[in-house]
Amino acid sequence: MRKAGQITGGALVCAGKNIAEGMSTYDLDRIIHDYITSHGARPSFLHYSGYPASACISVNDTVIHGIPSKTERLKKGDIVSVDVGAYIDGYHGDSAKTFRVGEVSEAADRLMRSTEESLYEAIKTAEIGMRIGDLSAVIQKYNESRGFSVVRQYVGHGVGRELHEDPEVPNFGKAGHGPRLIAGMVIAIEPMINQGSPEVKVLSDGWTVKTVDGGLSAHFEHTVAITPSGVVILTQPEE
Ligand code: MF3
Ligand code: CO
Repeated sequence: MRKAGQITGGALVCAGKNIAEGMSTYDLDRIIHDYITSHGARPSFLHYSGYPASACISVNDTVIHGIPSKTERLKKGDIVSVDVGAYIDGYHGDSAKTFRVGEVSEAADRLMRSTEESLYEAIKTAEIGMRIGDLSAVIQKYNESRGFSVVRQYVGHGVGRELHEDPEVPNFGKAGHGPRLIAGMVIAIEPMINQGSPEVKVLSDGWTVKTVDGGLSAHFEHTVAITPSGVVILTQPEE
């Protein structure tokens, strides 16, 4: 799974290097697609339940599952969540990151930092014997104490031979509850955090998830392995 994770993480690095004002989200998806396939992997999301692209690209008030489009162009000040998966040698990697297009507002910056930091706080908490609810509670507290809200309708998940496996990994919940983390488990931890209300809606395309109040949303995700010698962030790109 390290190999799938490294290609997934590398695709996000590649996305970050290419994001520019004026570019279409379709072109960004092509770049990600080419990165994944040229590294010998298959984009995990392409045709998954009929999903039409290799990446989910979710701008500003789009929370997740934004479908790349030739007519949607990135503007200065946008925040862009890019979610990618790569499948190779029988296993998936899954990772997401919210990027800035040029300089963003102070409010957007705070939301992004809180979301990313909460992911790393949860990763720090993950060890054999802890429970999923311990991770959920860390993410919820971290973001709510900074005035942000946690999306309830979508959650993290196990990853492996399938993109989505048990257990569910919610971004809200109670410490001491839920399944225990055991050696060999691989999970995708993925806080989806809103600036305003936690409510979301799905557009008529059947995919695009937006905030109901039009506020910004950020999304960071890593695939992590629980091992006896500690947590390995499989989708962390190696320098
Ligand atoms: N990365 C998403 C997740 O974590 C999956 C995207 S849905 C897809 O569950 F259909 F586009 F694959
Ligand atoms: Co995921």
